[in-house]
Amino acid sequence: MTDHAIRLVVNGKEVTATVPARLTLADFLRDHLGLTGTHLGCEHGVCGACTVLQDDRSVRACITLAVQADGCSITTVEGLTGPLAERLRASFTRCHGLRCGF
Ligand code: FES
Repeated sequence: MTDHAIRLVVNGKEVTATVPARLTLADFLRDHLGLTGTHLGCEHGVCGACTVLQDDRSVRACITLAVQADGCSITTVEGLTGPLAERLRASFTRCHGLRCGF
């Protein structure tokens, strides 16, 4: 299997890596960058637990390949900042939200 060089911005930081063609964005974020806030649930694009922002549009990272994020800006839950993000996190905690569903 051929590896591919990718360059992207994750939570405001530039990242370069060489990844297998079939590596999912979710596995790249979790296993290569340690951003485990991107959860895995169904792993086939149904539950939404893996949702991240790719150039400000929501995508399901379990069915997006890391190579498809080349040249893009990715925001994970770790990258959410500001009062709205704090309210969102507090609401998930208060309501026992599992980021399952969207
Ligand atoms: S893990 Fe369920 S949609 Fe990605």
